[in-house]
Amino acid sequence: MPQLASRIGRAKPSAIMQIAEKAKRLKAEGRDIISFSIGVPNFLPGEHVYEAARNALAHDSGQYGSNRGADAMLDAFIEHMGKLGLTGYGRVNCATGVGAKHILYNLAEALLDEGDTIAFPTPYWTSYLDIAEIVNAKIELLPCPPEQDYKLTPAQLDAALAKKPRVFLFNNPSNPTGMVYTRAEIDALAEVIVKYPDTWIITDDIYNKMVFDGVGYHNFVHSKPELKERVIFVDSLSKTYGMPGWRVGFMAGPESVAKAVVVLNSNHITNIPEITTAAAVAALSGPQDVPEGKCAEFQSKRDQVMQVMDSIPGVVCPRPQGAFYVFPDISCSFGKTHGPTGKAIANDVDFCSVLLEAKGVACVPGSAFGEPRAMRISYTCPTPQLAPGMARIKEFFGELA
Ligand SMILES: Cc1ncc(COP(=O)(O)O)c(C=O)c1O
Repeated sequence: MPQLASRIGRAKPSAIMQIAEKAKRLKAEGRDIISFSIGVPNFLPGEHVYEAARNALAHDSGQYGSNRGADAMLDAFIEHMGKLGLTGYGRVNCATGVGAKHILYNLAEALLDEGDTIAFPTPYWTSYLDIAEIVNAKIELLPCPPEQDYKLTPAQLDAALAKKPRVFLFNNPSNPTGMVYTRAEIDALAEVIVKYPDTWIITDDIYNKMVFDGVGYHNFVHSKPELKERVIFVDSLSKTYGMPGWRVGFMAGPESVAKAVVVLNSNHITNIPEITTAAAVAALSGPQDVPEGKCAEFQSKRDQVMQVMDSIPGVVCPRPQGAFYVFPDISCSFGKTHGPTGKAIANDVDFCSVLLEAKGVACVPGSAFGEPRAMRISYTCPTPQLAPGMARIKEFFGELA
């Protein structure tokens, strides 16, 4: 029998989906399950988005579209970036894809030859590792433990960039930690980046509209505008607009990089569909009350989660200021046994598995994100489920000895 390509052996199925599947199975068996596992925003876009999609359907051109993305969508994205303080970009600097994941995959193809190094902080979003492995890049992980609030320090970045990786991949606000870099922290990292001109910088900032406590969203380009020539900004409609299934992602950066992504698009997806394009324009240019309302709701849910986390002895939980995740260090439970079930907890995977079986609460083990001392709580569930879910987690900790 013929063999599969070796790159397939390097790609692993998502650990997050495995927990979600188990939770689904228990639910189908009639268990009362509260899911804090999948990173979905759990809301729908405003009516104007659906109206734009229906209207596009009624006026279907029946044609292929642009490999870069329709002009109207690029213009709406450029305007949206302008509101983030990212200015001076034209259509030639931009490209679209089937979600940010697809953009990131395209960027890996465009920027990394086999064996080139990509450096990124740990904890990381799971697909960074898998995408890097598929393109056979060398991966340099930069550990950012809870003791440093899961944030990269300028000294760490300096040491990493001194080795001249081809790409440095940065995520702010972070999935899985929810941490957000302040302007001063971004300034300090940007000071380091300017010293190393041989590295491309990808900023995966898809949670840029979900920032709390007035911290604001900041990019290296805000600190050092000259970095525009090698910073690639990545964005998506998925989380901000409640549109993960619509699959629209964006990038803005140097013309040559955008062009490379367009060439890749021309050889696989061809274009973002017309109906999706119309919905994307409406989401970006229309009323922003849905995302703004959700950001306020998530901030208050963050407060609820943190109140419980701060009350559990032994748990260390840096306070997130964005996205919709909390990432507590649960290693105080390792080596203990869960009294009612008699199950031993040796690590994060045991913790999440026994928690799910015993209390019906699904969280994702931190090892899925390269930090096996932690677990991820994604708190976008319906509001009435949040308090009972958190109470069950607290109760579970109380049953460990
Ligand atoms: C940090 C980060 N980047 C990229 C993505 C992918 O987003 P999209 O739905 O646009 O592909 C996700 C989705 O969870 C994410 O958390």
